[in-house]
Amino acid sequence: MEKIIDENKQGESLILEQKKENTKKLFIESYGCAMNFSDSEIVASILLDGGYNTTQQLEEADLVLVNTCSIRDKAEQTVRKRLEKYNAVKKINPKMKVGVLGCMAERLKSKFLEEEKIVDLVVGPDAYKDLPNLLSEVEEGRDAINVILSKDETYGDISPVRLNSNGVTAFVSITRGCDNMCTFCVVPFTRGRERSRDPQSILEEVNDLWTKGFKEITLLGQNVDSYLWYGGGLKKDFEKASDIQKATAVSFSDLLEMCATAQPKMRIRFSTSNPQDMTMDVVKTMAKHENICNYIHLPVQSGSNRILKEMNRQHTREEYFEMIDTIRKIIPDCGISQDMIVGFPTESEQDHQDTLSLMEYVKYDFGYMFAYSERPGTLAERKMHDDVTPEIKQQRLAEIVALQQKHSQYRTEQFVGKVVEVLIEKSSKKSDTHWSGRNPQSTVVVFPKEHYKIGDFVNVKVNTCTSATLIGDAIGYSKNN
Ligand code: SAH
Ligand code: F3S
Repeated sequence: MEKIIDENKQGESLILEQKKENTKKLFIESYGCAMNFSDSEIVASILLDGGYNTTQQLEEADLVLVNTCSIRDKAEQTVRKRLEKYNAVKKINPKMKVGVLGCMAERLKSKFLEEEKIVDLVVGPDAYKDLPNLLSEVEEGRDAINVILSKDETYGDISPVRLNSNGVTAFVSITRGCDNMCTFCVVPFTRGRERSRDPQSILEEVNDLWTKGFKEITLLGQNVDSYLWYGGGLKKDFEKASDIQKATAVSFSDLLEMCATAQPKMRIRFSTSNPQDMTMDVVKTMAKHENICNYIHLPVQSGSNRILKEMNRQHTREEYFEMIDTIRKIIPDCGISQDMIVGFPTESEQDHQDTLSLMEYVKYDFGYMFAYSERPGTLAERKMHDDVTPEIKQQRLAEIVALQQKHSQYRTEQFVGKVVEVLIEKSSKKSDTHWSGRNPQSTVVVFPKEHYKIGDFVNVKVNTCTSATLIGDAIGYSKNN
């Protein structure tokens, strides 16, 4: 395999893995969650072996693939807009084929081919290994579709082609699917049942990334804490496993421990944790290993016990507070972030006030906040009425965003005057002369470049901050460099 290093003007390198014998060009782009971005790297790897090198130029592509998101209606609209753009390009390049991957492919299935004339190929998240066959169908002039969900596909045997990589941080997927059935969420329908990837293949990927110079990995899953390896198969079938399988099973905290020990200088992150599945063993493992970053993305969705129940989230606000208190007792400087939904069906002003008071208690470092979007096929769509008006949703959203901003400011101010360790990832968006990276708590830090380079671990003295960024000066390499 040949590596092409594409130096851009700021000296950041984009490593593109290519094969000389490949004659066709693939343009692939991703929308939605980190899992989609990670899946696209698996797809690029499958197609690298199937005759396609990736290109960054849409206009020169033989094949355009878009990895789609269904989580909210707006995400689907964004993809439909993108298809219009492909349509315009196809007028200039009529041989170009267009394929839709990911959650929208799974949700809409053959409807996609009817609704969007430009689409030649529809492939669900568990069918990517079938892509070379499907492409042969397309070449012969037939539409092609595979949206079969799998009980065991984890792509553990595929070595991802790192796309748009800074060569420093990478995603490593560890589970697929989700069994939680939160009533608002389309993911269990589009990504199927939960299954875990063989820990050995995860370790091999982590070791390989270290050899290639990567310095930070994020272990990825819709619900990482429910990772469970007992030799393969669905999580829900674990009860039927043999005694030996049960005795040698690997939990998420075991996996974290294995990764942290295998590569003690690699920074390790993980996402996402559902509070109902997160165990204190995980927190203790984080505390034990310096290279596991002190940061947890711990979405709660609502602060109201009544709404949490309607959402089928299996914990109360009191249990959540207890969890936050324990995390902070074990890891006092742990960064914590949230996802929140306003305007879930029947949400009253009192429920909304409960969300605000929960946020006041936790004072999250940052968060991702959304207005409820009804998704076809979910329990909420079938059993409940989307009765909170768009105006009230927007008003409540603005209130939680403003409160979060206040808390983010409070959190970033706690770092001013202190020294934080930063892994340099890229040039700052706002200034060519500054680097941008993150501290272990996942807060962005910018500072003058001096002689440092991408991939260095640097100690930065924080001088000032905004609600989202710490600004400082490097005072030397950190001991991890
Ligand atoms: N466990 C997942 C969460 C999936 S979706 C993960 O790994 O990220 C990410 C976030 O989108 C959720 O936490 C939730 O806050 C939001 N979300 C999901 N479904 C939604 C809907 N129907 N309307 C609005 N927001 C939604
Ligand atoms: Fe969705 Fe809940 Fe799973 S938000 S991804 S069903 S944990």
